[in-house]
Amino acid sequence: MAGKRNDNVAVIGAQWGDEGKGKIVDLLCDRFDVVARYQGGHNAGHTVRFWEKHYSLKLIPSGILHADKLCLLGNGMVIDPEALLEEIESLRSLGVKIDTNLKVSDSAHCILPYHKALDLAREEAAGAAKIGPTRRGIGPAYETKVSRYGIRIADLLDPDVLREKIEFACAEKNPVLQTVYGKTPFDARKLYDDYTRYGEVLAKRIINGPVLINGLIREGKRVMFEGAQGTLLDVDHGTYPFVTSSNTVVGGICTGLGVAPKHIDQVVGVAKAYTTRVGGGAFPTELHDATGDHLRKRGNEYGTVTGRPRRTGWLDLAVLRTAVMLNGIDAIALTKLDVLDDCEEIPVCTSYNVHGERWTTFPAFAVAHHDYKPEYKTRKGWKQPTVGITEFAKLPQTAKDYIRYIEDEIGCTITIISTGPRREETIQR
Ligand code: IMP
Repeated sequence: MAGKRNDNVAVIGAQWGDEGKGKIVDLLCDRFDVVARYQGGHNAGHTVRFWEKHYSLKLIPSGILHADKLCLLGNGMVIDPEALLEEIESLRSLGVKIDTNLKVSDSAHCILPYHKALDLAREEAAGAAKIGPTRRGIGPAYETKVSRYGIRIADLLDPDVLREKIEFACAEKNPVLQTVYGKTPFDARKLYDDYTRYGEVLAKRIINGPVLINGLIREGKRVMFEGAQGTLLDVDHGTYPFVTSSNTVVGGICTGLGVAPKHIDQVVGVAKAYTTRVGGGAFPTELHDATGDHLRKRGNEYGTVTGRPRRTGWLDLAVLRTAVMLNGIDAIALTKLDVLDDCEEIPVCTSYNVHGERWTTFPAFAVAHHDYKPEYKTRKGWKQPTVGITEFAKLPQTAKDYIRYIEDEIGCTITIISTGPRREETIQR
């Protein structure tokens, strides 16, 4: 499905994140030489399981589980060096090899403790307007980047620049933390010492990301671009303001890695067979009943990063059409089909009624007004276990019909179907 040799493929979440991208990246990995992330930070949470092993990844691409792949953290990311070092250690303790196979772009931005403190303080103060972030400092770090006072990974290697930037940041952030939010200020000297140390440990991994990746592409190496979060969490195209602070859509690859659009040969969208989201914001097909609880329990819908229970609901074709449109998705990987095994009936949202008008894509303005009604078509459930099925032909007829119905409605083929959390519990068509 990744097409001819030399294709570079993007794997992008087609909903609100947590679609199971980690498993799909891991599954497709063999066909690639490089796995690169282009946005976000340790707000992402990927779980990859095979046989008895269970890996939890936040910052590092899932490609790291394959010893011969080069993994790159792109310039579009915001990186908490402490979290990165912890993740490296924790993966190593599970036997994962991490040496020259992990590189960090020198122009990625750093998350500092004051970003995290601001994320938390704002969330506490926001009351009903809470966005529900992962509390990792992602939003404040991107704000600092855009304000042009951010600390980049390269700055960790330049003591004078680092000291000056940290002192400047503390002079501004400390009064805000203290006076506006009543929080403890940060000691610039301690931050400087900590971040200098992180720089020393990370130094051998720090490279010019765009030069590295474009050189590899020129050599004919194949790259997988690993998206984090999902299309509807994109800062421009998602359910603003209930979004993350980066461009999760395919365009983010060009800016977040310095790769030209012509090098993105194929886009795989990852979608769950139903829908979930964490944090606040619009969710038209959300279930607030026992069926929603059932999907949560059966699908183990609890955040990898924060452990928060995820909101659950039926599949929303308007969301998927929007994702296909924004990302130019060529093929869909449909995950967690087996979670629907017990459902007698499966309603699917086909469109919204917005003031009497039919919308087949996600209406951005409606996010604020909640003035739209999802319109459903109910499909028959299959009421048989699909767990672990590896051939399309072996699926119950109604499950095949469900898949073909989605394909027809969104105009995109489903080439991978996941029937369980493990690598081997997958159908490839
Ligand atoms: P932030 O990215 O921590 O600022 O959080 C902003 C919004 O994006 C919140 O609703 C989070 O729950 C959501 N979010 C961030 N990362 C993920 C993810 O990896 N999966 C699902 N939702 C996420």
